Amino acid sequence: MIKIYSPASIGNVGVGFDVLGAAIAPIDGSFLGDTVTILPSKKFNLINKGTFSNQLPIDVNNNIVWKCWDYFCSFLKKNLPITIILEKNMPIGSGLGSSACSVVASIIAMNMYFNNPIQKTELLLLMGKLEGKISGSIHYDNVAPCFLGGLQLIINNNGIICQRLPIFKNWLWTIAWPGIKVKTADARTALPLQYSKDICIEHSRYLAGFIHSLYTKQPELASKLMNDVIAEPYRIKLLPNFLKTRQEIQKIGAIGCGISGSGPTIFSISDNLQTAKNIKKWLKKNYLKTHQGFVHICKIDTIGTRKIG
Ligand code: HSE
Repeated sequence: MIKIYSPASIGNVGVGFDVLGAAIAPIDGSFLGDTVTILPSKKFNLINKGTFSNQLPIDVNNNIVWKCWDYFCSFLKKNLPITIILEKNMPIGSGLGSSACSVVASIIAMNMYFNNPIQKTELLLLMGKLEGKISGSIHYDNVAPCFLGGLQLIINNNGIICQRLPIFKNWLWTIAWPGIKVKTADARTALPLQYSKDICIEHSRYLAGFIHSLYTKQPELASKLMNDVIAEPYRIKLLPNFLKTRQEIQKIGAIGCGISGSGPTIFSISDNLQTAKNIKKWLKKNYLKTHQGFVHICKIDTIGTRKIG
């Protein structure tokens, strides 16, 4: 038997559309992610458990874990009879890398169970492909941090998929999922097909400046540069009252605030616990739209996917 945990992640991190992603972990030590357990079996069997298992497709062939198993079998050119137990603890369509959690946990669990036949870069390519099947196009900004932990910059060139970036250890990331669903595929089609030269330059300035501030240890500059001119302007309408929410939590003391992945989760950054707690309280009262919604104060999860059983 093997049991794997894969953490939630913030795609884009506000300034790097499709090229920045951060794995996150609640500071209270609780798990925020999916787990996958593999057991020996005579035939393939998939058992769905967890808080959000009722959101999974009824037809097993549409379940992403089944697709992972199918891909894994074709990759190894073998039929692999196993029982997979998916604990779906991440809400689907939340912007917290829910599908990446299931994909990464399944692929890593199978790879470990069968004595690591696939190497790291191949694994990432496979995860990207599978993630692309759900979201409409390949992007690594959830699967890479979910798999490897930390804040990852997607390179996808010269045989390198991603590289880990330095982080500010005192930054706290308060995430709020309002309890409603936004499909990544829909949030991606909401974006324009082309951008003007001015926007391209502005985007490069923010992204390059942000990465420069990480390496030169300038947290204030980094937080000021976390502006999204690519996705945010077109996705605001998919979130409940995002601009007002951002204004309010900035008043409380947030040094940064943006859309997590394709939303509707938002993240806010603060550099002390009291501010993070005040933001959490405000978001709980004002941003949640259903009883299922949640708010967590998180740090960057530097470990990523790991074996927990
Ligand atoms: N980079 C992706 C997007 C992340 O914004 O569409 C999806 O979670």
